[in-house]
Parts: sequence; structure tokens; C-alpha cells
Amino acid sequence: MTDHDAVRAIEWRNNGLRLLDQRRLPQQVVYLDCNTADDVAAAIRGMVVRGAPAIGIAAAYGCVLAAREGELAAGMERLAEARPTAVNLHWALRRMAAVDSVDPGRLLAEARAIHAADIAANQAMGAAGAALIEPGRAVITHCNTGSLATGGFGTALGVVRQAWGEGRLSEVYAGETRPWLQGARLTSWELANDGIPVRVIADSAAPSLMRAGGVGWVIVGADRVAANGDVANKIGTYGLALAAHALGVGVMVVAPASTLDPQVPDSDAIPIETRAPDELLSWQGEALFSEGEGVDAWNPVFDITPAGLVDVLVTDRGVVHHPDAVRLRELMAQTANQELA
Ligand code: MRU
Repeated sequence: MTDHDAVRAIEWRNNGLRLLDQRRLPQQVVYLDCNTADDVAAAIRGMVVRGAPAIGIAAAYGCVLAAREGELAAGMERLAEARPTAVNLHWALRRMAAVDSVDPGRLLAEARAIHAADIAANQAMGAAGAALIEPGRAVITHCNTGSLATGGFGTALGVVRQAWGEGRLSEVYAGETRPWLQGARLTSWELANDGIPVRVIADSAAPSLMRAGGVGWVIVGADRVAANGDVANKIGTYGLALAAHALGVGVMVVAPASTLDPQVPDSDAIPIETRAPDELLSWQGEALFSEGEGVDAWNPVFDITPAGLVDVLVTDRGVVHHPDAVRLRELMAQTANQELA
């Protein structure tokens, strides 16, 4: 592992899947062992493991467990239903299905390959994204897109990690990411753990921070990128991109090819997960209201940033400035040809 890169949240060990339990961070660093595909599906649904690439990798290992239980097809179906927005889940299940075998050993080799390729992709994107950052600027990131959200190193946080290592950044700001606090709990813990100083801001502080000057980029990941470049990512990304656009700050989206979904022409076809109202209507573990008091909540956990607000999309297949349908098609076609050559 390179400097500033010690955290790993997903590990195959003792013939099972060990996950760092992200519900408990940062107060407790505890692990959860999954020994069945249903354990993995429940861990994905319950946010023990979260982040688009990490969900896909966990599901790939879940297929190994399903095959061991003698019910690969049924296990795959249950894994596919665990969360709706991140396309990496379906991408990984398609890769596992393409192995065309129920042999747990062969499936494990493929899951390990998916895991290792994700880390390599993140390192490549980290280098490409960091090169775009003018030295001496601050960056704002949102949600957690780091080693906790991927096989390791991270997407947007991989760029931050790399840029910090190269001495390019004056400051790293992490939006708290209400309501689940992926920024305040996870990004802060991960960066501190890896020796990168971080300042947490309330999500609502970001526009004022950008207006004050010194911020070069908003750097975020993605859960799904449509064929026209529209980006589904953690709720709050759209507001950040709007503010950045208005204030002359760059918007960088960092996502591997496993997050690109050429099947959906634009964001209208991307399912947006809505989670339980109690994520918003509780405080310090206690419900704020009881049933019948007339208080409900709307809790979509992703939003859509239209492609027009994205200055640069950094992928493991190349960097696309001002992504749109034509540029994304070209990227995929060019790299497909390279792979065939
Ligand atoms: O609900 P989560 O925590 O799974 O959401 C994660 C995000 O939105 C990340 O920004 C995204 O997965 C891209 S980076 C790995």
C-alpha cells in the first residue's frame, strides 16, 4: 500500500466475507462476518457496507457464498435487490454470472479479480484527477468515496489522497452528508486514520466556503452515470454542483467504468433510493416524534446532477471534460478498441 492508504473495509478471510461495520464508525471499529449470501444482502441493505464499488465487490463475494450454499441463482437475485441506485451492484453480478460456473473456487477467483481491479482503477483515477488540481487550492468532498466505499483507495477520495500525497492541497473539507453522516463520521475517520488532515463542514456551509475563495474543486463520486453524463450521487451533490457552478468552482466527478450505465440514456431512468423517515426524524438515537403527531419526512438518499454542471469526469478509461452523450460514447468506443488491440 502507498502512503496515506491503510484502510481496507472488505476482506475475504477464513472462507467468509469480513466487513468493517460502517454503522459503528468512528466510535467503534468492529467487523461483521458474513457466511451466507443473505448475510451479505442484509449487510448491503443495512449499510454495514456502502458506497457503489464496495457494494458491487461485497455482492461478488456474496455470490461465492451463495454457490457454496447450492443456490447461486436465488442468492444473486436477493443480492440484486439489496439497494437500487448504485449500478456497480448489477455490474458485479453480471461479471459473476459470466463466469458461467457454480464452482465456489472459480467464483472466488473472479470476485478477487473484481476487487483487485477496483483498487487499481482507483489508483489510476487518483493520479489522473490529482493532475488537474492546481497546487495550493482547497477541495470540498461529499459523502464517503474512499477506501470504505470501494475495494480500497477510493474514487473522489482517491484523488484527494493522491493530491494530498503530492502536496497539492491547502485544505480538505468534508461535507457532513446528512442524514447518515458519511462525511462527518466516515470520511473524517478514514482521512484522519491515513494521516490526512480534514475539516468537516455542515453541508449548508459549502456555498459560503466557496464564495470566500480558495476552493478549487468540488470532488465527488457517483453511484451511476447515465449515457448522457447525468450523475446520480449522494443527496446534496446537486446543490453543491449548482453552488460551485455559480461561484466559478470546478466540479469533478470520479467514477470507474463499472459506475457508467450506457443502458440508461439519461437520469430519468435511474432509480433513486428513498430510505426510512426515521433517519431524519431522530436525534441522538431517539425518535423526535411519535406516530400520530403528524410529522413525516421525505428522505431520498441520492440526487441527480445534470451533465451540464459537471466540468470533468475522471474514469479509469480516461478523463472527459464537459461529459455528454457523444463524448461518453467516444470514450467507451475508444477504450473498447484499446482493449481489443
Ligand atoms: O448511501 P451510500 O453511502 O452508499 O452512498 C455512497 C455515495 O453516494 C458515494 O458518493 C458513491 O457511492 C460514489 S463513491 C464510491
